[in-house]
Amino acid sequence: MQRGQFSSRLGFILAASGSAVGLGNIWGFPTNAAENGGAAFLLMYIILAFLLAYPALMAELIIGRHTRSNMVTALQSIASSSRAKTAGKLTGLGGILAATFILCFYSIIAGWMIAFMLEPVAHFFGMEALGNWLTEFSLARNLGFSALFLSLTVLVISAGVEQGIEKWSQRLMPSLFVLLAALIVYVLLQDGAMQGLKHYLVPDFSQMADPQLIVRALGQAFFSLSLGVGTMLIYGSYIRSDENLPVVGALVTLTDTGVAFLAGMLVLPAIFVAQELGVTIYGGDGSLIAGPDLIFQVLPALFDGMGTTGLAVGFAFFVLMTIAAVTSSISMLEVPVAYTVETAGTSRIKATWLIGLGVFVCSAVVSMNFDALFGLVVTLTTEWAQPLLGVMLCIFAGWIFNRNSILSELKQGDAGVEQGLFWKVWPIYVKFFCPLLILLTFAQGFF
Ligand code: PHE
Repeated sequence: MQRGQFSSRLGFILAASGSAVGLGNIWGFPTNAAENGGAAFLLMYIILAFLLAYPALMAELIIGRHTRSNMVTALQSIASSSRAKTAGKLTGLGGILAATFILCFYSIIAGWMIAFMLEPVAHFFGMEALGNWLTEFSLARNLGFSALFLSLTVLVISAGVEQGIEKWSQRLMPSLFVLLAALIVYVLLQDGAMQGLKHYLVPDFSQMADPQLIVRALGQAFFSLSLGVGTMLIYGSYIRSDENLPVVGALVTLTDTGVAFLAGMLVLPAIFVAQELGVTIYGGDGSLIAGPDLIFQVLPALFDGMGTTGLAVGFAFFVLMTIAAVTSSISMLEVPVAYTVETAGTSRIKATWLIGLGVFVCSAVVSMNFDALFGLVVTLTTEWAQPLLGVMLCIFAGWIFNRNSILSELKQGDAGVEQGLFWKVWPIYVKFFCPLLILLTFAQGFF
């Protein structure tokens, strides 16, 4: 069977950045920064993104392109002993499960984004009751919109790598950049914005050594670069052989970090603009409102306070969120789909719809037991599974994957790679430092 492939370098970079740039960047990053010392968090995040997340990303891209297969087959095929093959199979299955469960909760939040995107439209046409229903927490709304969001995801993925993932990433990502830039310019021109900018960009260095800040920044970096669960591995398996992997990996990391940084320039100033308009932005304990209340109360209150312009700005903001979510969710769904197509021989269309349905059932169960399950699924997948699977992937790249195979893989895209900085640093780095540092940071969260 002919495997899919990205047709161009730009196509890959937009698709992988599309996976990376998601709700994690536009919502997670700014709120984490707001809660954890503003620029101190930003600085720690940038350090960890390049020191730990980039090497782990490279491990996934190289393994993926070398084996040209899904995560389970990939890890099994680079292992030579039967023990390592079993570990590969378990790690691969763990990654596929984690990606699937991330999609379960992601589709619920992304559904809210679509609902909030439609609210200003309903408002504009005078349909107040509909507008209220769209923005109020209800099971019917949650189920309906996560089903809608998952259907969009399924439609893109069922069309395949070039006609689905690449084509849609190439359409959606440029729109995302334009919307983000326009919103930043608009918000920065409003009263109060500068105060938010200061809160974001002036570091409180005393917080840099705070273990919570470090753990949060690492979790954020892993989630944001879509690591550990095989998304980057499978995207890597669709890159052309003559691509220079360390360079494209660095471009993806830069884009992801850049968008997170820019999202902070939008969201933090917006919080303070909202305050100018009389919205409460500090919680009872004196800390800045973050989490869901920020996106679903503070910002909508801000848009409401801006009258008719607010309708357009609110609409644009939630379109931005929805686009960011779709380009990420397609990369999550591709993980189980590629595995099923490649190991069970199911057709792509059938596999995509069946798995999409399974994910919907899972997200419906979470929606129906929201208080008990939502936080649990988020914690298990993003705080436990992602870093631990990341460690396993580094171990596979550093200890199990044959060094000469890695070198010849990299040489296809850059004949002089052996003399370059990447080859001097990365192999040792991914072998010793990455697993240890990730484990240390991970463990620190518990003590
Ligand atoms: N990186 C995405 C975001 O920032 C989330 C994601 C996690 C995507 C894991 C794929 C896999 O929202």
